[in-house]
Amino acid sequence: MNRAEFDLMAAVEREHWWYWGLRDLIARSLRRLGLPGDRTLSVLDAGCGTGENLRLLNEVLAPQYLGGFDLSPRALEHAARKNPGADLYQGDIRHPELHVAELDVITSCDVLDVPGADSALPGLKRLVSALRPGGLLLLNLPAFAWLRSRHDLAVHSRQRFTDRAVRQLLHDAALSVELVTYRVWAVFPLIVLARLPSIIWPPSDPAAVHSDVAVPLAGANTLLRWLLSAENSAVDAGLRLPWGSSVFAIGRKI
Ligand SMILES: C[S@@+](CC[C@H](N)C(=O)[O-])C[C@H]1O[C@@H](n2cnc3c(N)ncnc32)[C@H](O)[C@@H]1O
Repeated sequence: MNRAEFDLMAAVEREHWWYWGLRDLIARSLRRLGLPGDRTLSVLDAGCGTGENLRLLNEVLAPQYLGGFDLSPRALEHAARKNPGADLYQGDIRHPELHVAELDVITSCDVLDVPGADSALPGLKRLVSALRPGGLLLLNLPAFAWLRSRHDLAVHSRQRFTDRAVRQLLHDAALSVELVTYRVWAVFPLIVLARLPSIIWPPSDPAAVHSDVAVPLAGANTLLRWLLSAENSAVDAGLRLPWGSSVFAIGRKI
């Protein structure tokens, strides 16, 4: 992703329905699953981007250690502005560096798809090895290979996943599966329609593609946030959604 894409992400991610919905599901899941209340927590966001998920983790978990790494210095500049107290550093999820010996929660949202699961798995295992027993890994990943479109090219994503593939990924990382579900279910048909032209006719010059991220008009953004909130409460209540544009998963260290 280029600098402009990170600047755009930093500007919209607080309000934009899609990012808001993911944070809402992360917050609900962390509150539902709970973590030992008798000690201070260490939390890491692997591929933290421009830092809004870190801000959420700080709000929900009030960890003693809040760390985040990303490949992009520009993303880290934004993340540092949003999270002045966090330990932010340049790093690669394929061979991650850790600044603490043990972690309670690791999040990684829409990152493993960039290098691809096969090349990221050794690094993911390294991260999981630092999780304390009972610790959690939360993943969000793009769904369905056939949905690959100009959006994926713009964010340099090379792989999209099924729920089954993500379940396997948790198994490969030696985690027990707490949750695997599709998400962004209700508006999924509209997303497919919007992406159809670039699914059928991929851009001839992938390097020139820009992402389609923009905050819709206020009313539409509120409606979309409301829809995702309804989906998230259904997932929180135990429902698993049969399709969606992302797969959301939680694994627990045994
Ligand atoms: C789609 S953004 C998601 C950012 C953030 N996790 C979020 O949910 O808003 C993908 C992020 O992964 C980062 N990234 C890509 N490949 C990476 C790698 N091998 N190691 C670490 N970060 C990587 C990119 O720089 C970018 O910030």
